[in-house]
Parts: sequence; structure tokens; C-alpha cells
Amino acid sequence: MQHLFASDYDDLSHKVASLIAAQITLKPESVLGLATGSTPMGAYRLLVQWHRCAGLSFSKVRTVNLDEYCGLGPDHPQSYRYYMQHNLFSLVDISPDNTHIPNGLAEDPDEECKRYDHLICDLGGIDLLLLGLGDNGHIGFNEPDCLFGLSTHLAHLTPCTLKANSRFFSTPEEIPRQAYTMGIRSIMEARHIILAVSDRNRAGTVAAATRGFISPELPASILQLHPNLTVVMTKPDSEDVPDDFRPR
Ligand code: GLP
Repeated sequence: MQHLFASDYDDLSHKVASLIAAQITLKPESVLGLATGSTPMGAYRLLVQWHRCAGLSFSKVRTVNLDEYCGLGPDHPQSYRYYMQHNLFSLVDISPDNTHIPNGLAEDPDEECKRYDHLICDLGGIDLLLLGLGDNGHIGFNEPDCLFGLSTHLAHLTPCTLKANSRFFSTPEEIPRQAYTMGIRSIMEARHIILAVSDRNRAGTVAAATRGFISPELPASILQLHPNLTVVMTKPDSEDVPDDFRPR
């Protein structure tokens, strides 16, 4: 496990974007696993800028996103397909056929999960997977007490996650209760993982996840067992982290 400490959000975005750009430069046909949320937005902005000004090309890149809300279609402004289109895909030279996200409107959820797992397998697995971290330590939408052995599945979102997501919806009724997510198994099979955390309030959670007890109660803790994990985070103030977990 490697830790990269960023001085602020811009620095964090630069570090994350550099790792992704390096992956694409070394292997233009890379399979990237991508995340949504506020954390990766700055990195996506930089990748778009490097595409426009420095010739970074996505023409051979394939992408698989981590998750998608169940019940939201691609035109819904809060769907993750919409987010990816507007923050990255439509702004670089990636082929739409090479961008993959679970179908939030799938009629048969079991079939959709199987389809997504087969797709990841057919692509040859994920070269580089970008992860954010939920308030409760979730990765993708693998909520606390998830089974570590699961591949893509339909997850029931916990009250903590519903509360965190409520800021994006005007009424509580609109907040999706379920979401498709790559499972922990799919995540752990990625060849390189970046865990990006910009929120200083999550410093304690990161510390517990990266140095504490490995347990489904804190889904991100499984990442300690990954052979090629890079944690990129804004350097926490010492009071943000419990004594046992202060960065060395
Ligand atoms: C959602 C996504 C996660 C993401 C998390 C953190 O829950 N399913 O994949 O990591 O949000 O979001 P943010 O980056 O806004 O803190």
C-alpha cells in the first residue's frame, strides 16, 4: 500500500489524474474502473484539459463504472451515466461503445448483474480502478456488512448513505433506495486500485480502513489485502485521526 498525501483538493486531483494519465500513456487500451461523487470531479477536469491541450487520448480506453442507481435512466441528472457523460465521456475522444455503466432501468436485476460481471471479464479485467469512500466506509455501494465474496449485485442503501445522497434530490421520496454496484470481489480483482479521499472528515475512516481491523463492518478495510493499492488523501490534521491511526 502506498500513501500519497495531498496539500489540498487541487493537489489531490492532480495526483489522481496523473496516475490515470500515466496508465493510459503506458497502455492506451487500458480498462479503467471509474467512480462518481464530488471527489473525482477535479481529476476528471484535469484529464479533459490534458486531452485538449496535451494530446492525452482516450480513443482506445475502455471504462467500467463502479455503480449506478436502480431506477434512474441515463437522462436523469442524478444518474451516474449522466454524471460521467457530462464530466468526462462527452469531453474526451472516448468511443461511447467503450463506456460501460450498469443499466439502472434494467428489467431483470439478476440478469443485469450477470451481464456486468461477464462484461468486465470479457474486457480482461480492470487495469486501474478509482474508488471514493462513503461516510460509512463503503466503496462503490458496498455498504457495511456486505459480503466480501460478492460480485456485481443490487445493494440496499443504508440510512447513512441515503442521508448523504439526500442533498442531490429535492424530496426524500426521490432518493433511490437501491443501487447496482460492483461487488468487493470485482473490486479486489482490479490490478491497481486508487482510493481517493478529499474530505478531511473522513480521515479517521481512512485510517481505520487502511490500518485497522479488516471486517465487513468497514467495507473499505478489505483494501488492506490488495497487492497494489494507492491511497491519495488530503493530509489530515492530527486531531482528525484517532491516536492509534496517526499517519507515520
Ligand atoms: C457515492 C458513490 C461512491 C463514492 C461516494 C463518495 O456513495 N457510490 O462510489 O465514493 O459517493 O462520494 P464523494 O466523493 O462525493 O464524497
